Amino acid sequence: MADATNTTAVTVAITGASGAPYGLRLVEMLLAAGRRVDLVISRAGRLVLEQECHLMLPDSVPDANRILKEMWPHGTELLNLYGNNDWNSPLASGSARGRAMVICPCSMGTLAAVANGMSDNLLERAADVAIKEKWPLILVPREAPLSVIHLSNMLRLAQLGVTILPAAPGFYHCPASVNELIDFVVARILDHLAIGHTLVPPWSGGLAGGMMKESHQTMGSYGA
Ligand SMILES: Cc1cc2nc3c(=O)[nH]c(=O)nc-3n(C[C@H](O)[C@H](O)[C@H](O)COP(=O)(O)O)c2cc1C
Repeated sequence: MADATNTTAVTVAITGASGAPYGLRLVEMLLAAGRRVDLVISRAGRLVLEQECHLMLPDSVPDANRILKEMWPHGTELLNLYGNNDWNSPLASGSARGRAMVICPCSMGTLAAVANGMSDNLLERAADVAIKEKWPLILVPREAPLSVIHLSNMLRLAQLGVTILPAAPGFYHCPASVNELIDFVVARILDHLAIGHTLVPPWSGGLAGGMMKESHQTMGSYGA
């Protein structure tokens, strides 16, 4: 698997699994880190964003792009939303070098499509390109329980070098809020992209006893 430390741009895909707040927080932190973010949102992903984050994005990609840029004014120049059928997007080609991709949250439907190289929309194609080019690709699945189909698709992807990073926050830092649970998962993603952060202090052993309550930085809530 390629080294994520050399990547400047990150493709973020938000699909229709529960956990949309993880995706938004990830985008926010990548922009804060000065990374270019190319964003793709599936149709079901838009439904879940509405349900979980009260964020309604219009069908028009330019209009949705404008709304998203207004959410993160510090990253206006770095953020770009692509339509999921925009085959002219650079994300559809292996020539757009030096990028990593994170599908967060990742539905079992998209996970199956990626595991089987479907490339039926831009999101799936971008993941297919990442696999063939051996670029860092992280999937953040959320489903419970997991069937043999889900597990075998995950195994197949892991064997291809894809990182399966479940949306399963730990509790050993004694999180005091939903935002801290979200940050736990986003911190693990940033760790795997080799992007520095202060979301969660590294585990140093022993009893954390409220450590997160003191260190958490309020970056806003996504309605979770
Ligand atoms: C509110 C809501 C929550 C959902 N949660 C999950 C989930 O956690 N995991 C999952 O695999 N699918 C979940 N689904 C179902 C997916 O959205 C559905 O399978 C969809 O076809 C996925 O399409 P996509 O992969 O193109 O986004 C959820 C759907 C809705 C409306």
